[in-house]
Amino acid sequence: MPFYHKLGNIPPKRHTIFRKPNGDLYYEQLFGTIGFDGMSTNSYHEHRPTQVKEIRKQYSVAPKIAKANNIQSYRLRGFQVPQVEDYLESRKIMLTNSDCNIILAAPTTSTRDYFYKNTDADELIFIHKGTGKLRTMLGNLDFKYGDYLLVPRGIIYKIDFDTDDNRLFIVESYRPIYTPKRYRNWFGQLLEHSPFCERDIRRPYELETNNEEGEFLIKVKKQGDIFEMVYATHPFDVIGYDGYNYPYAFSIHDFEPITGRIHQPPPVHQTFETDAFVICSFVPRLYDYHPQSIPAPYNHSNIDSDEVLYYVDGDFMSRNDIDAGHISLHPAGIPHGPHPGAAERSIGKMETEELAVMVDTFKPLQVTEEAMKIADEDYYKSWLENGKH
Ligand SMILES: [Fe+2]
Repeated sequence: MPFYHKLGNIPPKRHTIFRKPNGDLYYEQLFGTIGFDGMSTNSYHEHRPTQVKEIRKQYSVAPKIAKANNIQSYRLRGFQVPQVEDYLESRKIMLTNSDCNIILAAPTTSTRDYFYKNTDADELIFIHKGTGKLRTMLGNLDFKYGDYLLVPRGIIYKIDFDTDDNRLFIVESYRPIYTPKRYRNWFGQLLEHSPFCERDIRRPYELETNNEEGEFLIKVKKQGDIFEMVYATHPFDVIGYDGYNYPYAFSIHDFEPITGRIHQPPPVHQTFETDAFVICSFVPRLYDYHPQSIPAPYNHSNIDSDEVLYYVDGDFMSRNDIDAGHISLHPAGIPHGPHPGAAERSIGKMETEELAVMVDTFKPLQVTEEAMKIADEDYYKSWLENGKH
């Protein structure tokens, strides 16, 4: 996150002597990104973070592709993704390309007997249903409905759920996920026109420092495989850290919508950016107030980006027959727009309660076998004037 955070105890100067009460040294770790050019965190550990005891297993969790090249619009009924006890096993990749995986998950239990680390990708976890606590090596974050949890690559974490009814929409990104550059000044501070500011961003507040030795299983994701690695010390053994590279939470309910006299384009909804896709939040807002305005969007030809919408709540004004938990995929290369009747229906409306997350990828997405299990194969015909689908 592009602002400074400090938690726990750290010495006054980096790379200097920092001793435990018994006189031994703490073990310093610089956790950097983009070599030494990106955001970094400097943490102090009870034990060496390098004590690998055993590498037990290696297995692929790469998605199986059903449609590698696709020009068909799809609707995926997301709540039909089965509930699965284990957090990692519950994660089903729906859409994928070489920059990201778009995942749905309905885990019913907390991660108990292992820790998880994704070495390749930042993870953006949107909480559609469920409350609990994200526990990480750099501190904990409480979460609830509407939260985005941003876990930078390499951060070891566990996730605790309060109940068994959880629904997650996850974007796993091989490109770093940032807040949009145009929202920030040259120092990184979020500007007045940004739809959110630093006060809306929740930083880790609770550091767990475990001074334990034994056998600690970390499931490490790398290059589409999980490696089951056993470490000799507890991964949450940080006494303190500071820097810019840490997990954080932001609630979609804290996104302040930008409205206008006529229809505002999707970039006003932008929440996160990478160099390979953007993420936007569509939130309850007042509609356009020009007396002749049409609040529904116009047809548009996103010729060079695939558009994924995840519907969270409210009546989505431009679509017929869309429910919470659904995903729509509108692929690059063909135009899409409001369903028949939606533009007329929107005229004169004052406000919308819609809540949705959009991911626009610059490279085409492949449709997975998991997605085909919950796909509406006829959705692509749903714009026909006399269309029954
Ligand atoms: Fe669109």
